[in-house]
Parts: sequence; structure tokens; C-alpha cells
Amino acid sequence: MEIFFATSNSHKVSEAAAILDPLGHRVQPLLLNGRPLELVEPQAEGIEEVARSKLEQAVEATSGMLGSQTAILVEDCGLFVDSLGGFPGPFSSYVESTIGLQGILSLMEGVESRGAEYRAVAVLGFEGETLRSSGACKGVISTTASGSNGFGYDPIFVPEEGDGRTCGELSPHEKSQVSHRARALKGLSELLNPPSK
Ligand code: IMP
Repeated sequence: MEIFFATSNSHKVSEAAAILDPLGHRVQPLLLNGRPLELVEPQAEGIEEVARSKLEQAVEATSGMLGSQTAILVEDCGLFVDSLGGFPGPFSSYVESTIGLQGILSLMEGVESRGAEYRAVAVLGFEGETLRSSGACKGVISTTASGSNGFGYDPIFVPEEGDGRTCGELSPHEKSQVSHRARALKGLSELLNPPSK
């Protein structure tokens, strides 16, 4: 199946291609007039609602343009910090672009309990059907930012299943082993290609 991923983030497209292409699908960015689709993220909603809203917008914007055997993929993620009551959660993009990673580190200065979780919801729409899957990655917020791999909050997020390095210090392969998005996409891949019994 040809899967058009509605995102402007090339890291996300590569991560999805690494999971879905080996199963016989082909993931590529959804471009209209050569540009990624601008999707509005409703604020004050959960990531589930945001992902479904993005899918509706993408389906509407491409109405009649995609052939059969094609699907639209969208996903929404967030960083949920325990001691901040789940903040920034669905506001993660806005918070990243305003107070940034240093802002989160400042909010957590002196806080001992540093547990956090990345969560992702992936939704695939094709031929009027919708498949959804979610994934999570538990970890802690570091006290300083480190590493230049990945994107977003990776330099301040240390996955629980790792060796103490931040996601910003992991290689793309290492990150894909723990990534919330990779887990959501693997769930989708199992819905598309159920493992044979
Ligand atoms: P969105 O779902 O792409 O809008 O992402 C929401 C926010 O979470 C943005 O600030 C992203 O940078 C951040 N984010 C999403 N996935 C990741 C990730 O894998 N690593 C680091 N930050 C992420």
C-alpha cells in the first residue's frame, strides 16, 4: 500500500518507512503542490483527538486526489511530565516553540521526581476505514540537555530502557528500539499485516 504521511518532519517519515516499507508498503510524505500539508492542531484536546482531527483535515484536503491502494497516515505525540501534572502533553509543540527545552528544565529545577513519558497516537485512513494505534516510552527528564541526534525534546529525555543516555545521544537505530512512535507504528503494521498464526 502507498502510505502518505501527513507531516513536515522528515525524521518521522524515515522512522515510519523503516517500519512499514519492509512489510511491502511505501511510506512517503504527503505533499500538496510540493509542500507538506499545513494541519491545524486543536489546542486543549488530547493527542487522540488531535490525531483524528489531523486525519479529517488531510482526507478533506486530498479528497479525490489519491487512488486506490493508498492510505493517509497522521500521528500526534506529546511529552507528559509526571511532576508537572502531564504538562506539556498535547501542548508539547507550542511549549517547545515558546519556553523550549530550557524552559522545561527550569520548571523542574530542584525537582527530584523526574518521571515522564512520550506518547504517540498513529491513525491511518484508507478507503473510508480508520485504523489507530498508540505507543509510549517511559523515561526521566535529565537535568541538562545533551546530544544532537533526534529532534524535539530528545536532548532532555532519558528512556527507562536505555543506558542513561538521552534520546539526543542515541543513534536513529537505538532510538527506534524505544520510540513511542515506532511502537504506535508497529501496532498499525500488525493491524495492516496481521502476524500469521
Ligand atoms: P507533534 O506530534 O509532531 O506535533 O509533536 C509534538 C511535540 O512533541 C513536538 O514539540 C515534538 O518536537 C515533540 N516530539 C514528538 N515526537 C518526539 C520525539 O520522538 N522526540 C522528541 N520530541 C518529540
